[in-house]
Amino acid sequence: MLIFHDIAEIREFVRQARGKGHSIGLVPTMGYLHEGHLSLMRQAKKQCDTVIISIFVNPTQFGPGEDLASYPRDLDRDAAMAEGVGVDAVFNPAAAEIYPPGYSTYIDVERITEKLCGASRPGHFRGVATVVAKLFNIVKPDYAFFGQKDAQQVLVIKRMAADLNMEVEVVTVPTVREPNGLAMSSRNVYLEPDQRQAALILSSSLNRAAAAVRSGERDAAKIRQLVIDLIKAEPLAEIDYVEIYSHPDLEPVEVIKGPALLALAVKMGRARLIDNIIL
Ligand code: PAF
Repeated sequence: MLIFHDIAEIREFVRQARGKGHSIGLVPTMGYLHEGHLSLMRQAKKQCDTVIISIFVNPTQFGPGEDLASYPRDLDRDAAMAEGVGVDAVFNPAAAEIYPPGYSTYIDVERITEKLCGASRPGHFRGVATVVAKLFNIVKPDYAFFGQKDAQQVLVIKRMAADLNMEVEVVTVPTVREPNGLAMSSRNVYLEPDQRQAALILSSSLNRAAAAVRSGERDAAKIRQLVIDLIKAEPLAEIDYVEIYSHPDLEPVEVIKGPALLALAVKMGRARLIDNIIL
């Protein structure tokens, strides 16, 4: 497996792969890989001849006071994990390679970024869309793979790719969970043992909501309140949001008639955790 830091080098690698007639899969990541990332890579291996992952802690998607400086980083560990699942190349640029002096161009996906994490983290999706567009332009993948755990991110990237006529198919891969239900996240390293235990309330409350829908409940406000009450009963958890929107349009829902996204963000000590389920 090769590791590239420069845009020119990864472009040359892609050019050679294309010369062999290979399809290209891209898995954008911020590193500190876990099983969730590995499942994206395994899916990419199934669908593509050459698989590239990017590891780049993207400064433009972090707000002031967020965890950019402390975000976990370990390139050697990540490279070994990626190589273990057959990744062909890692693109690990420095911040100045992606945002050189004078950098001035950003992508704003409107409307669907105004709610959920977009409301709690102003500017976050502008940073995500911008870096992903740049990665798409650099690597020109046929397929790009993203986890359903970041449900809104996937919708934003799909919207951007469609709106800007990008020739990439955005593939959504199911959330990978620990055996106890906790969604895998690089930020889980911030959790102390008691917080890790308390964090199970995220997935268990989503499951309770799904069970309520299966039993016939269709009132979105009641389902949302059920989840809020369950999370509020956990003293270590502080709710950022619990919301239900239509999926994939993210329009307000009163009565659940079609697919609906129940998404939540909860602060647990230093960690801000997100999770979701499609009802
Ligand atoms: O999901 C992530 O890790 C990041 O938001 C992404 C898509 C790699 C963009 O920096």
